[in-house]
Amino acid sequence: MAEPTDKTRASRRKFLVSAAGLSVTSLAAAGAAARPSFADNSKNLPPNVADWTRTLGEGVGVRAYGNPSKYEKDAIRRTVPWLTATPESSVSFTPLHALDGIITPSGLCFERHHSGIAEVDPADYRLMLHGLVDKPLIFTLDELKRLPRVNKIYFLECAANSGMEWRGAQLNGAQYTHGMVHCVQYTGVPLKLLLEQAGVKSNAKWIMAEGGDAAAMNRSIPLAKAIDDCLVAYRMNGEMLRPEQGYPVRLVVPGWEGNVWVKWLRRLKIGDQPWYTREETSKYTDLLEDGKARQFTFVMDAKSVITSPSPQASVKQKGFNVISGLAWSGRGKISRVDVSLDGGRNWRTARIDGPVFDKACVRFYYEFDWNGEELLLQSRAMDDTGYVQPSKEALRKIRGVNSIYHNNGIQTWALKANGEVENVEVG
Ligand code: MTE
Ligand code: CO
Repeated sequence: MAEPTDKTRASRRKFLVSAAGLSVTSLAAAGAAARPSFADNSKNLPPNVADWTRTLGEGVGVRAYGNPSKYEKDAIRRTVPWLTATPESSVSFTPLHALDGIITPSGLCFERHHSGIAEVDPADYRLMLHGLVDKPLIFTLDELKRLPRVNKIYFLECAANSGMEWRGAQLNGAQYTHGMVHCVQYTGVPLKLLLEQAGVKSNAKWIMAEGGDAAAMNRSIPLAKAIDDCLVAYRMNGEMLRPEQGYPVRLVVPGWEGNVWVKWLRRLKIGDQPWYTREETSKYTDLLEDGKARQFTFVMDAKSVITSPSPQASVKQKGFNVISGLAWSGRGKISRVDVSLDGGRNWRTARIDGPVFDKACVRFYYEFDWNGEELLLQSRAMDDTGYVQPSKEALRKIRGVNSIYHNNGIQTWALKANGEVENVEVG
């Protein structure tokens, strides 16, 4: 179904020919369009010697901890003030439109806190493990660091990601519609090792994870998942966890909704049934049309989004352009991503580039030649269980529109003739 048709093959050929035939002038024009500041500052352009070549640069060590270039001001977290009542119980969004590859830079990972960022002193950090165990244990941070550790790349998606889009297109930007996701490398101890040390009783079935923040946010997780692949993580992208992400220790629950990834982790209690905490009763349940609610809907189904072009990343010129996006699945590996230019009527297989890890983001591309016509851009992810990301229409048929959570429907961006992009719905 998604094999290229003769028509798309032909246009791919045409694209290759025209890309190879780009002249020096058209490359310069493309550069000027992409970097307007150069045009204002023509004394820095070839054949002149640029200002930055005429003077010595700043010395080493001045930037004890490096920051991005001052020209990269667009790549920042953003909030939607009307979404939440207070900054302490709020969310900021990952600038997906400004990023590439699969790893989210630590400082750009979206943040979701219920009671602000806990400032935990690592010297006073303790992790309690108790309940239905032979030997209750308390670990210091140093003790956790002395245990065998693993490195894993996983996505984390808040169950409320795209939650504002259930009733129709709302927020204009991939950052806002899909930016409650990040993907980083974690270093930590398999939770299984801690459980083995404590000795889990035979009637144990659930584990409760509790945070050390003012919300003491807590969730019940089936013990089977805890033993399977959960991590007690203390590093992300090589360095210690950022305070926003739960410094010094957070729970990593691969492929499952972000809410169960408890930050500032202080306690793990083993039990024989769930605790029915606030976060799994009044929140994080999915109210269906018939008044029933789905509960413990942990897994994040396969999802994808075109990050560029998107409302915050318009198309600068006709001709050679690259569609780029992210796909992820909480059930396993992404096996394929398709892209449509016509609102889902025809699909072409996108090119996945970079590593494809289990329960991690993958990066896809689709190169195309834009003649200036209006397009309806979509992407559709598939995972190795055979699951195919549904249309929003199909999703609403089974879930209704009462829920906030687990909206993994296909996103549509309308590319206008002037290159601007808008969040729309088709069908
Ligand atoms: N853990 C604690 N202790 N307190 C919180 O408020 N928020 C949860 C989860 N863990 C939260 C928490 C929610 S709803 C999400 S989506 C993720 O953390 C967000 O993780 P991040 O801030 O690293 O993006
Ligand atoms: Co969340």
